[in-house]
Amino acid sequence: MSILINNEDKTYTLLTKNTMYQMKVDETGVLEHTYYGAKMEYMDMHYAVDCIMGTSFSPNPADYPKNKWAYSYNQINQEISMAGIGDFRLTSVGVRNTDGSFGAEPRFVSARTEKGKYSLKGLPAFYGEDADTLVVTLKDKVYDIYFHLYYGVFEEYDLITRSLVIENKTNDSIKLEKALTLTLDMPNGTYDMIYFHGRHTRERMLERTRIKHSQISVSSMRGASSHMENPFVVVCDKNANEEYGSAWGIGLVYSGNFLISAEKNLQEKTIVVAGINPENFNFEVASNDEFVCPEVAMVYSNEGFGKMSNSYHKAIRNNLTRGKYKNAVRPVLINNWEGTYFDFNADKLVAMAHEAKKMGVELFVMDDGWFGKRDNDFCALGDWVPNENKLQGTLSNLAKRINDEGMKFGIWFEPECISEDSDLYRAHPDYALAMKSRAPQVSRNQYVLDYSRKDVVDNIYNQLVKVLDSANISYVKWDFNRHITDLYSVALPAEKQGEVYHRYMLGLYDLLERITSKYPDILFESCSGGGGRFDMGMLYYMPQVWTSDNSDAIDRLKIQYGTSFAYPVSTMGAHVSVCPNHQNARITPLKTRGNVAYFGTYGLELDVTKMTEDEKQEIARQIKEFKSYYELIQRGDYYRLISPFTPEESLYCAWETVKEDGSEALVCAVRYETDASTAAEYVKLKGLCPNKLYRINGSKETYLGSALMNVGMFLEYDFITYPSRLYHITLA
Ligand code: GLA
Repeated sequence: MSILINNEDKTYTLLTKNTMYQMKVDETGVLEHTYYGAKMEYMDMHYAVDCIMGTSFSPNPADYPKNKWAYSYNQINQEISMAGIGDFRLTSVGVRNTDGSFGAEPRFVSARTEKGKYSLKGLPAFYGEDADTLVVTLKDKVYDIYFHLYYGVFEEYDLITRSLVIENKTNDSIKLEKALTLTLDMPNGTYDMIYFHGRHTRERMLERTRIKHSQISVSSMRGASSHMENPFVVVCDKNANEEYGSAWGIGLVYSGNFLISAEKNLQEKTIVVAGINPENFNFEVASNDEFVCPEVAMVYSNEGFGKMSNSYHKAIRNNLTRGKYKNAVRPVLINNWEGTYFDFNADKLVAMAHEAKKMGVELFVMDDGWFGKRDNDFCALGDWVPNENKLQGTLSNLAKRINDEGMKFGIWFEPECISEDSDLYRAHPDYALAMKSRAPQVSRNQYVLDYSRKDVVDNIYNQLVKVLDSANISYVKWDFNRHITDLYSVALPAEKQGEVYHRYMLGLYDLLERITSKYPDILFESCSGGGGRFDMGMLYYMPQVWTSDNSDAIDRLKIQYGTSFAYPVSTMGAHVSVCPNHQNARITPLKTRGNVAYFGTYGLELDVTKMTEDEKQEIARQIKEFKSYYELIQRGDYYRLISPFTPEESLYCAWETVKEDGSEALVCAVRYETDASTAAEYVKLKGLCPNKLYRINGSKETYLGSALMNVGMFLEYDFITYPSRLYHITLA
């Protein structure tokens, strides 16, 4: 058991392979947070948080220990920090009681362990029978409001998950005005926060900022986790890097509005909160009902970001993604979007499939434009009825034609949106989220469906089932091409409108659960205008995500590098497309486009019928090469070697995947800047066995693992723009 309960010390200690997390019930029954960091022998870590220097203007709770005048919610580390009762730091939960008062004082009631990882009603969560669960129950000092803290401990991956269930056992309803999942008091120190911001076609750009006395936050109020901020941050020592220093990953298993906030407080201590964004959130919890907060997934590493990322990668691959394609080899696909956009018919698609098959492609994906009269993005969302004119027959017939070419068939949906020009909107205008009093905003000419309503979700479910049952479909791309505005559900009374954002997510997760479990053989890929919903919530339902609408290999270096901090290569949709690139007009070698897409799911997104013979041969070579490295790339340990965010340090971006036993590695290095009279560059490899000899791409010479890791491997240079190389490192 990875959970230690010490009744004498009243401590609750979570232990993973390399980390330790501890809480302690203090003399007033408050659950204090005493430690989260490197593993050590058991001790009561209370001394680390007990030394509070009293500061005036920090109020004492009515029953504070009279020998401790500095005892204040404003000063002590608490597992959940509550708003309204004298804690002026970042707080995570705000309870409006029946009588209108605001605040609660949770005090310890009980703790129990469970074998296996807890699950969360209606929400995605990590799972695993080998993991352990600790449930600590607290109760407000006054009202029958219970706070059940859930902890999941995944020993092997140094992963600790956390959730909070707030249960109302009073006779009336209460309101949650704030229900973030996590409060985390960091050990003493000075910390940075690394976060991943961006925009459409420029997702997950890495930025690093010192956490000082003003709040620093990443958040979304877009009804989706969004391109603009990712619900994942790293809080780290100010000197931490890929290999050294303490790093705490904090990720939300949630795809909607979120907030992750940190600050240094009056005790010069850093505090972090994470969970559902409290803006426009106000959730009624009826008597004898409960509210479940989304899960937070934390990994601590004292060997820098590389180790932290690898722990997340393994945990996400093995204990978050589900279904057949969690482990099965995924087919190499071609998607017609950049090849044809809306301008296609069945003959065109079959011709593309025919050519692609010759190169070794295994799955043909028909993107947007196959339903209703959708020849542009002004209409038809909501009417999931195949356009048999365009498809020159039924959908089933088209699937069969593609299958007859020897390929699987896949299809695009955007189930959460509705066009004004659609039969569904004409019949049910109230299905769209819109305020009664004003015309809603359009975005990409469409509205968002009110997924807080079960009848709306059921309508879409039935439509999807009809399509999926009608043809031999092996793959679904699930898109979401706008954000939520004009939040208002006609199905809820005025005082419950603050519930709509979260109820939307519950409706979406319900639909995803129903569809993905009904079609276990279908490979699902999540998408939101590219990587606008790349988060652990979506990965519970779909094992891969279209990383970005930007398919340029050079821009992709930063996008995929940033994404890799939390998310494994196997989740990153990556395609080879044409040049000049459709998003930025850049021209890159086809080989470089392939090499970058290898460190993702690798697929194609272009009109193969327009390629030259040489290009077709190159793609055929790439598919063969990608497949030969498939296991190594998809399941190996992943290391970031040279960052594309530091051009002042290197002209290259390089990453590496290594077999867990260090016996084989594959390095990809891309030169993204040009330079005359160029200097020689070496890259230091990682994860090899120091005392073993290796060959590089079958070289005659051999190199000691420690030499390759400490001195580095020479990066060869081709005299072209944007050259790239793969280096296959094998035991001599
Ligand atoms: C989004 C997706 C694209 C494509 C289009 C279709 O932008 O990210 O890949 O599917 O929608 O409209």
